[in-house]
Amino acid sequence: MSKHLLLVDDDPVLLDSLRRRIHARRPTWKLTCADRSITAWEKLLECVCDALVVDIWMPGLSGLELLERVRMAERTHDLPVVVLTGLSHQRLKQRAMELGASDLLNKPVDTEQLLATLDGLLSAAGEAENAPRNEAAKPQRHARRAQLWSRLELVCRLARLADRGQEEGANHAIRVGCSSGALAEQMGHGVGLQERLLLAAPLHDIGNIAIPQQILEKPGPLDPAERAVVEGHCLIGERLLRDPEYAPYPGLVPGLVKCRDTAEDPFLLTAATIALTHHEHWDGSGYPRGLAGMKIPLEARIVAICDAFDALTSRRSYRKPHSEMEALRIIDESGESQFDPAVRQAFHEALPEIRAVREEFADGVAAFPELEKE
Ligand SMILES: [Fe+2]
Ligand SMILES: [Fe+2]
Repeated sequence: MSKHLLLVDDDPVLLDSLRRRIHARRPTWKLTCADRSITAWEKLLECVCDALVVDIWMPGLSGLELLERVRMAERTHDLPVVVLTGLSHQRLKQRAMELGASDLLNKPVDTEQLLATLDGLLSAAGEAENAPRNEAAKPQRHARRAQLWSRLELVCRLARLADRGQEEGANHAIRVGCSSGALAEQMGHGVGLQERLLLAAPLHDIGNIAIPQQILEKPGPLDPAERAVVEGHCLIGERLLRDPEYAPYPGLVPGLVKCRDTAEDPFLLTAATIALTHHEHWDGSGYPRGLAGMKIPLEARIVAICDAFDALTSRRSYRKPHSEMEALRIIDESGESQFDPAVRQAFHEALPEIRAVREEFADGVAAFPELEKE
């Protein structure tokens, strides 16, 4: 079926070049161009569009402000949006992801990469469109998860290496990934953010890999020095995911693998961001940076509540699991200071799906049975 794309760039030469290159490869697609974000927004309100490709830097309303409007509006909040950025604009890339960009591509744009990205986003959007967001949408969500299964398994196996304080057979990492994706969906964020969370959230505690086992598994409360060591897992995790030359153990030889710059890879960037900021609190009392409110990246605000709920309802070496009701009471009591109120509200609304994730990946149940049979 023919698709309708809206291309937005204030540079008329680049805009026309983009239009011609896409048209040459996808002649059936309808392509509408806009040289200002505000013009694009007006077009989005008056016609049906299947995807938006937008530059960040534009006079007047910026590409990021347009993205924000798209995600806030009922009519457009699910629209796939590809954001085009300069290579080195790491902060802007992070902001675009926080605002719900479906994908990021560097300028100058590689046509093949753009078309592959658009093909993937349009087919995922088509699947989601065919099923409303209710019980009937579950098979589509699960089908998308199945497509990512082998990557998810790899990520969760790595996460388990770091999670040495957990009970044998614990599936905490995969539950945090699946719950975070479900919560992002409940909040109205697109498939791009849901999938990044699914794959990146399990690595939130990867920094624990460098924390001494006797501290991680200590049955009683930690003393101040031990607590400082444990809190270091955020910085260690972020560096492990961001810096290919970082070696957290003495004697480990770093930098043998040629890695892409983390800033170019939305998955690595999301994982590093979550590892660094998942213990920040809404009122600024968290660590390691003491960030408050919306300064805490959206991904971390989502993962923080899923991680806390799952940890409370899981068995630990030093305590029994809390019941769901008890865990919700604890989260609501500490909620005002610790969690984003909008995320907390959405978490309550997403509880049926979160409960389903807990049942599907209960501790002691093989999380990847198909792969384990091979
Ligand atoms: Fe943590
Ligand atoms: Fe955790």
